[in-house]
Amino acid sequence: MPIDTQALNRGRHSLDNYDELWLFGYGSLIYKVDFPYLSKEPAHIHGYQRRLWQGSSDHRGTPDSPGRVATLTPVNGAVCYGIAYHVTQEEFEHLDHREKNGYLREEIDIFFQNGRKVRGLVYMATPDNEAFLGGATIEELAQHIFNSSGPSGDNKDYVYELAKALRARGVVDEHVLALEQALLKIESR
Ligand code: SIN
Repeated sequence: MPIDTQALNRGRHSLDNYDELWLFGYGSLIYKVDFPYLSKEPAHIHGYQRRLWQGSSDHRGTPDSPGRVATLTPVNGAVCYGIAYHVTQEEFEHLDHREKNGYLREEIDIFFQNGRKVRGLVYMATPDNEAFLGGATIEELAQHIFNSSGPSGDNKDYVYELAKALRARGVVDEHVLALEQALLKIESR
């Protein structure tokens, strides 16, 4: 899969049939909301875990030295908590550009706290995209993140902002919390 997924995403789901759509955000889309939305609600999806396994050469790293950002990895029985945004289809031009480094829009069931379910979209970066980095130990991931920086800022701030935003919403994500702790440990050395 090419490193720039904008054209793939445009051809993927025709958004023409929708006036408004739900988008599930689980990474920077939780704390950096640079798009207008009609409403937003805490939400979750089933069958996926949040992992910082996707490479970032355009936001939190460079092409020579990619950083690490969140993607979703399928795990039976897992639940991933995030935010669902109700957006108009025009927003996807900006969103596709923002998420172009390996993410494809996938259709997914999004669940709200009151039990309501909607069919929406999520940006997902799968292992077959060229920017995918995959897993490593928490210490290795944290060291990589600590050393990385890109046009959107230091990679460690991606983790700190995400951890803070999840905490503020009462979400316990062991992976993100472990990375935050490991980064703070590196910082204190
Ligand atoms: C998301 O936040 O939903 C996608 C990954 C990211 O932009 O960090």
